[in-house]
Amino acid sequence: MPVLKVVDRDGVEHDVEAQVGLKVMEVLRELDYGVAAICGGMCSCATCHVYVDPDWAARIPEPMSDEKELLEELSHYEARSRLSCQIEITPALDGLKVTIAPDE
Ligand code: FES
Repeated sequence: MPVLKVVDRDGVEHDVEAQVGLKVMEVLRELDYGVAAICGGMCSCATCHVYVDPDWAARIPEPMSDEKELLEELSHYEARSRLSCQIEITPALDGLKVTIAPDE
């Protein structure tokens, strides 16, 4: 099973097992230090906002336009911002490092 490296809002890194086929958000919302994911993955709330480690940015599919638009409205938006509900876990993402973004 792939393992995600998840940096919480206190800067602590955790290794988290992630089932292939789930969205990254579905793994993160189960964690005490994870994301709220209020809309359940409909790409409309942005409460699943994460920063993807620069080493991984080119290894996951580009965001679609609706994800991009939502991200760019956030006050904590950065170039490496992604909505974790839009990233599907594949075996190739073993070791993916994401940092949970601050609350808006
Ligand atoms: S869970 Fe709402 S946008 Fe990702």
